[in-house]
Amino acid sequence: MKNIFFCPEESNFYSNCLENFVLKNCKKSECVVEFGSGDGSPVINSLLKNRFDGVIHGFELNISAWKAANLTIDEYNLAQKYIIHNSCLFESSQPDADYLVANPPYIPAPDKDIYMPLLFGGTDGATVTNELLSLGYENVLLLVSSFSNPESTIEHARSNGYHVTNFIVLPLKFGYYSSEPKVKNHIEELRKKKMSFYSGDYYFLAGVLFQKSRESREDLSNELAQVMTSL
Ligand SMILES: C[S@@+](CC[C@H](N)C(=O)[O-])C[C@H]1O[C@@H](n2cnc3c(N)ncnc32)[C@H](O)[C@@H]1O
Repeated sequence: MKNIFFCPEESNFYSNCLENFVLKNCKKSECVVEFGSGDGSPVINSLLKNRFDGVIHGFELNISAWKAANLTIDEYNLAQKYIIHNSCLFESSQPDADYLVANPPYIPAPDKDIYMPLLFGGTDGATVTNELLSLGYENVLLLVSSFSNPESTIEHARSNGYHVTNFIVLPLKFGYYSSEPKVKNHIEELRKKKMSFYSGDYYFLAGVLFQKSRESREDLSNELAQVMTSL
């Protein structure tokens, strides 16, 4: 299935973040919205390992990925817990939910003519990520890449009333999609403008929990910015 997002290291990391930052904190029958479900494996794997009584509504535009996800959902009898819509979250009526979660498209490029156009994250890579932080959800779990203008995301979240309440960082090697010459050259240009941070073949991918501000909440935004710009 060449046209379905495939990066097990990244998908497993996302699945672990889901488990630790979302599913373990969910009270009974909470609702979660997911942007860009891919083949569904990250959510399915975390549902198989955790007791979760709520419902996850996924949105996935890629029809092959959507079909593959539904086959696995049926295989594991999870159809009551994980419902994937073959549509775009931004253009649908957005479900009320306690959490919004995503490993969003974050590939920076001059335009979307890249190996997988649905992974295009705008010219700086942060466009979709930042749009997800404009939807008003109370709790948002996102993967954030150090080569995709991470400071803009932290700033955008802050101006939308979010605190960073938890994060975990994985050093990742540039993969198939980010090594495409057109993409890699563009990332190099962004680095000169201090919008991309990486070292050799490695960049940082962070799983970040953004939560709407409450007085007593600790805010780890500065710590996150420091780590993401340290390469
Ligand atoms: C980085 S992949 C993540 C897939 C999966 N969550 C994972 O971690 O393995 C991003 C996914 O978002 C999907 N996508 C991109 N734009 C979308 C949109 N506007 N609406 C729904 N899905 C979208 C892509 O097709 C792709 O499957």
